Amino acid sequence: MIAFHNVSKKYGRHIVLNEVDFQIHPNELVVLNGASGAGKSTVVALLIGAEKPDSGSVEVDEVVINDMHANTLQLYRRKIGVVYQDYKLLPKKTVFENVAFAMEVCEEPVELIHQRVPEVLDKVGLLGMQDQFPNQLSGGERQRIAIARALVHNPTLLIADEPTGNLDEANVRSIVDLFRRLHMEGATVLLTTHDPLVHSLLPGRILNIEAGKII
Ligand SMILES: Nc1ncnc2c1ncn2[C@@H]1O[C@H](COP(=O)(O)OP(=O)(O)OP(=O)(O)O)[C@@H](O)[C@H]1O
Ligand SMILES: [Mg+2]
Repeated sequence: MIAFHNVSKKYGRHIVLNEVDFQIHPNELVVLNGASGAGKSTVVALLIGAEKPDSGSVEVDEVVINDMHANTLQLYRRKIGVVYQDYKLLPKKTVFENVAFAMEVCEEPVELIHQRVPEVLDKVGLLGMQDQFPNQLSGGERQRIAIARALVHNPTLLIADEPTGNLDEANVRSIVDLFRRLHMEGATVLLTTHDPLVHSLLPGRILNIEAGKII
């Protein structure tokens, strides 16, 4: 489902990815491991089309992401769920509104939004908190909002860039557990981390990124 073919990416003279090749199969759970600065977020940026490779190609479901026009890219991004370390929530919107916003920007009908948002909030265990604001919630709960938002369009691919980076151990465990469950329900999951605890909790294949190469 995901294929990097000979992908190179540099910023200035700094080579971050050096002819990288790897594949991730449908319904696989893969952990991308690497030290800070190794290039994990760069891999994610290439996958969502936020960055383009200098050479090589990035394919998802046999479509080359780096060739996509802006319009197609927007549609493609709706089909994947992305979660970041810093949650990227809107502080002035409630839990419900944060999740609903992802549907509003896609001009989804109001009835569908009112049906779907509680469904995904229930899935992440936040149904009772829909009228709260992000700053009234814990880090683990905030990350659950972000995960709920990533799920609104029923993505088959979930990408999480150090989703537990700001969390304490109990919350790391519960967020990892949530990704495990989503994987069991059929999603393909790519999660980046350098946390040994996450590795010990997640059963998937590990890709190590080091000195521009993936091992
Ligand atoms: N937009 C950019 N412009 C210049 N250099 C960049 C840019 N984005 C990333 N880099 C550099 O590329 C390298 C890889 O960065 P990247 O963010 O992919 O690492 P990472 O593995 O995600 O690190 P971390 O664990 O700290 O998030 C770093 O040296 C970083 O400074
Ligand atoms: Mg990063």
